[in-house]
Amino acid sequence: MTSRDGPSLSRRHVLTTMAASGATLLVGAGTGGAAPAAAPPRKPGQASVFGLRHPPMETVRVGIIGVGARGNSLLGNLLDLDRVRVTAVCDLVPQRVEAARHRVTKAGQPEPAGFSAGETDFENLCRRDDVDIVYIATPWDSHVPMALAAMKNGRHAAIEVPAAISLEECWQLVDTAEQTRRHCIMLENCCYGETEMLVLSMVRRGVFGEVTHGEAGYLHGPADGLIRQASGAVWRRRFVQKFNGNLYPTHGLGPVAQYMGIHGGDRFERLVSMSSPERALSAVRDRLPEGDPRRAETYACGDVNTSILRTARGRTILVQFDIVTPRPYSRINMICGTEGAFRDYPPRIHLRGKPNEWETDLAPYHEAHGHPLWKQYKEAAVRSGGHGGMDYVMNRRLIACLLAGEPLDMTVYDAAAWSSVFPLSIASVAGGGAPVLFPDFTRGEWRDREPLGIVGA
Ligand SMILES: NC(=O)c1ccc[n+]([C@@H]2O[C@H](COP(=O)([O-])OP(=O)(O)OC[C@H]3O[C@@H](n4cnc5c(N)ncnc54)[C@H](O)[C@@H]3O)[C@@H](O)[C@H]2O)c1
Repeated sequence: MTSRDGPSLSRRHVLTTMAASGATLLVGAGTGGAAPAAAPPRKPGQASVFGLRHPPMETVRVGIIGVGARGNSLLGNLLDLDRVRVTAVCDLVPQRVEAARHRVTKAGQPEPAGFSAGETDFENLCRRDDVDIVYIATPWDSHVPMALAAMKNGRHAAIEVPAAISLEECWQLVDTAEQTRRHCIMLENCCYGETEMLVLSMVRRGVFGEVTHGEAGYLHGPADGLIRQASGAVWRRRFVQKFNGNLYPTHGLGPVAQYMGIHGGDRFERLVSMSSPERALSAVRDRLPEGDPRRAETYACGDVNTSILRTARGRTILVQFDIVTPRPYSRINMICGTEGAFRDYPPRIHLRGKPNEWETDLAPYHEAHGHPLWKQYKEAAVRSGGHGGMDYVMNRRLIACLLAGEPLDMTVYDAAAWSSVFPLSIASVAGGGAPVLFPDFTRGEWRDREPLGIVGA
């Protein structure tokens, strides 16, 4: 580890501390210290999936694994789209499968096949010939086995966030997509928010000059939501009990990574991460009635995790995570460059030469730089809904690309790199904030690719 890497913890100390916390399990060896983490060699026949195209389709047939809160929201958007058929649904809970099948028939489509015969019944959904793409909306640690089953059976995979929770899983996604030549993306809906797409357009048009720094986050407390007995809170708490790091990085990071052209001339290179003490969730736990089994829970994750990423071109991105302290919701969503800055929550812009304060009336910017997808889809997006319409825009754009046989906006390399903040932050925290290195999931191709442009509707 060189002196410019900061903390003078020896590599041995870092790895010992990681091992003690289980962090090594998530990152494997070779990510600590200054030596680049080598990409495993490609197998014969395996090749890059940048720009991957498949033949155009008449109809996109979707299978959904996981019809809890998120799966149902995605299902609603899919049922609002033309030339989409939901042909299969799977969940551990049979009533959820039945309710989803009913929703599909009520929308005028044939009854989809249902799968609810246990933990691995999703494999039967993936084997079906009437499924083109498998949507995966289950707890985090089940995403990758499901995506691999989809791809190995010839289906495309669209995975909820984060796509993967260990570096090994990230590589499995990349390698399997490259071997099977299937699309494999993470459903990072926040990249399709109206504000995010406005900022993306403005960055591409050079309004902020050369962008050197970004900030992102997922600040979504208070802890009262996480302590609940609802399905989503119960499994999320399992992770907070076990891991201390940045456990939900992609909602904030995905859009910032797109602004900064990550995998289009730059890539994440290293990360340092620290967590505050854990207090907020245990305080809520201690207010539960005597005898409640949750009172025996302990939590590993600090209240606030702050990670700082540096890119190969030396640019920096701050990523925060906090789902427990009481404060207004924010994904931070900030970018600054040589000519100006944007900061969200609330959205505001400052450009060189203007009075030295934030402009908060963004209507003229929406008029001049609003993204074509939002200009065309806004009415339908607001009607269909899902996080202010971003979910609809994401789904409609994904389906439009599949129908037209176009490459997708997001790649498996994005899914892997954005998700890898989960394990890498855990490793860095366990190492006292020591720097850890991102693998280059593109195996060097980031240098020659163009950033995502202002795609049309
Ligand atoms: N993009 C977003 O805005 C957004 C919002 C919420 C949740 N999410 C993501 O969506 C995913 C699901 O979250 P949620 O809030 O819907 O959780 P949830 O608990 O409400 O739903 C998960 C569902 O998966 C099912 N499931 C679990 N294991 C399964 C298996 N082996 N086979 C079939 N079904 C299985 C459960 O029975 C449950 O119905 C997570 O990855 C989460 O991070 C994303």
